[in-house]
Amino acid sequence: MLLGIMGAMPEEMDKIIASIDDKEIVERGSRIYYRGNLFGQEVVAVFSRWGKVAAATTATNMILDFKVDRIVFTGVAGAISPELNVGDIVIGQRLFQHDMDARPLMRRFEIPLTGKTSYETPQQNVDTMAQAVHTFLKNNKEFRKILAEQDITSPRLLTGDIASGDLFISSTEMKHALIKNLPSVVCVEMEGAAVAQVCDDYGVPLIVVRVISDTADEKAHISAIGFVNQHAGDYSLSILKEYIDLTNILKD
Ligand code: ADE
Repeated sequence: MLLGIMGAMPEEMDKIIASIDDKEIVERGSRIYYRGNLFGQEVVAVFSRWGKVAAATTATNMILDFKVDRIVFTGVAGAISPELNVGDIVIGQRLFQHDMDARPLMRRFEIPLTGKTSYETPQQNVDTMAQAVHTFLKNNKEFRKILAEQDITSPRLLTGDIASGDLFISSTEMKHALIKNLPSVVCVEMEGAAVAQVCDDYGVPLIVVRVISDTADEKAHISAIGFVNQHAGDYSLSILKEYIDLTNILKD
């Protein structure tokens, strides 16, 4: 089993990449892929750059060139649900492309010629990642102490719908428009649903796990940059470690 690990930004992937043993480095299509062993699991890790196209080409390469069996996409997201705070974690249930709109030819959000308005993650895959995140939240005392110093005292997990699009949501007005059109969505980012489309085309399972870096409002850019610089890498690495440990146990 070869696990593909993707993030959009170098800060989201640096610590994962640094922890890979026996690294082979392959450059292709302006991306750098790191293949090796992470906590006993064969992996390929890459940062895709921001946005749907960059994520889609990178995911395609992961599947065709490296032949990954499964992809985990990790990184930050902006909160849409008022229930979410900075530092909370979201596992994507359904993934929507909120900027897809071919009306009046098709329904709003419909991915042309698929008949779908979203890509759904199988419940079993959501549950496995949820178990890994719960273990991370319970066991990672040192990291939790660092988070608490920054007022992230009780990070929690929410499973819900994610919207992706080539827009950084940075005003209450943009946020409310998204809520109005896609009321089930709990957070927003710029890649997940594009990778989901590629994975669906090739029949490769995908799990999107995101950490809330901002509340997608007027202060989103300040909050997101601060969070990405301070915590995104530690979250990604710690969650992936628990996920790999768990899936290795389930395999035995
Ligand atoms: N990723 C992190 N925060 C985001 C936001 N506010 N909008 C889009 N993508 C994001």
